[in-house]
Amino acid sequence: MAGPKCEEDLFCGINLAKSQSSEEMSDLEKKHTPVISVSGTPKEGEAFEVSVKVGEYLAHPNEHGHFIAWIELYSEDTFIGRVDFASERAAPTAVFTVTLNHLHELRALAHCNMHGTWKGTKEL
Ligand SMILES: [Fe+2]
Repeated sequence: MAGPKCEEDLFCGINLAKSQSSEEMSDLEKKHTPVISVSGTPKEGEAFEVSVKVGEYLAHPNEHGHFIAWIELYSEDTFIGRVDFASERAAPTAVFTVTLNHLHELRALAHCNMHGTWKGTKEL
């Protein structure tokens, strides 16, 4: 028997909030969209700090049965790093020190064990 269509299945593909404006997001989108912050003005070839937080707009639960399991950071499609979290003991915030030779859009993925993988972006 066929399950839900991919676009209706949170565990099919990567979920993206319909709007990048937090005021227009649903509560589900607010709780799961990873928010990328950059310190200062990044320059090519120089280290800068990037933080990725889930729950910036609305707190996500952090219980053994429902939590953010990991965050990954990319420069466009190029992998930068990944942080895994234990439920309850770790808040879903990851900080990376990044050096890029090309300043592309930063992309973050965050995975909720109950609601699938979610994407957030930031133009540099
Ligand atoms: Fe969730």
